[in-house]
Amino acid sequence: MGFLEWATSPWGQKVPIHIAWFLIWVSLIAGLLFLIVHAIYVRFFAKKKEFAGEIPPGLRGRLPERVARHSLAARLFHWIMAAAMFTLLFTAFLPKVGIRFDWVTYHWIAGIVLTASIIFHIVHASFFLDFWSIWPDRIDLEDSGKRMARFFGRPASPPHRSGKYPLDNKMYHLVIVLCGLAVTLTGVFMMFRVRTGILPRNPYLFSDMTWGLMYVLHGLAGVGLIALVIVHVYFALRPEKLAITYSMIFGTMSRDFYLDEHDPERWVIKTEPSSGNRPGVANAD
Ligand code: HEM
Repeated sequence: MGFLEWATSPWGQKVPIHIAWFLIWVSLIAGLLFLIVHAIYVRFFAKKKEFAGEIPPGLRGRLPERVARHSLAARLFHWIMAAAMFTLLFTAFLPKVGIRFDWVTYHWIAGIVLTASIIFHIVHASFFLDFWSIWPDRIDLEDSGKRMARFFGRPASPPHRSGKYPLDNKMYHLVIVLCGLAVTLTGVFMMFRVRTGILPRNPYLFSDMTWGLMYVLHGLAGVGLIALVIVHVYFALRPEKLAITYSMIFGTMSRDFYLDEHDPERWVIKTEPSSGNRPGVANAD
């Protein structure tokens, strides 16, 4: 049983043509196993969270009741990207598991929507949001060492509260960036293989081997996204994360959730009336 499917080119060269489709099931099962194991761990074994440092006295009173977390632009990007992602996953993989329909056109149109939304997101995050808030920093790495030590029963001080994004969100983002870039970069080139009416069809743009490897990378990143999307939806629906999901719909989270989970020095909320906030809501990136 190989991980790739192969063919012989007109010149007699053995070339990969795409991944073996049983990997769809591997990814699906891996995603479901992760959530089962995680849910059991949280329910029966996880200890109560403990954090280093106290909330500065008086801060609670100076914060608005609702803290803004995601601007309208950031939320629109998220939901457009999510719709494109689900369309891509279903159009790509349903035909492979026996549900036949004319999928290619829906697929590349959703692919263009995803690519455009990612380009928008890169510009928006680089110039209008706090770019560094989503990348792991020194405190995250030190804290993950402490968490690991405490998990194995070794002495270590409690970790800090997180900045705007906890380390697990940051790591997830990193992996989704890699898979997202892999599917979009290969996908745009693969559009030259099909009739789109937008790009001239040119199957001779690359050698058979390069095309084959491109299809393999597209497929590998694509099946990886099955597990990643399952895990993402699972966390979004977990009771202790609903406040974050709510903020991705309505934009804000409660002051109590902010203070329980976030370090006000690592995710600073501006509260001055001069910042143009609506009364009672601090501004979001
Ligand atoms: C969640 C993201 C995506 C997934 C899971 C995914 C998955 C797949 C899979 C499994 C195939 C079949 C490949 C094969 O037969 O070896 C495929 C084909 C294709 N994908 Fe994607 N894809 C994604 C994103 C994209 C994007 C962003 C684009 C375009 C910008 C794109 C464009 C295409 C095209 C044009 C084909 C058809 C190639 C052909 O039939 O020759 N895909 N995709």
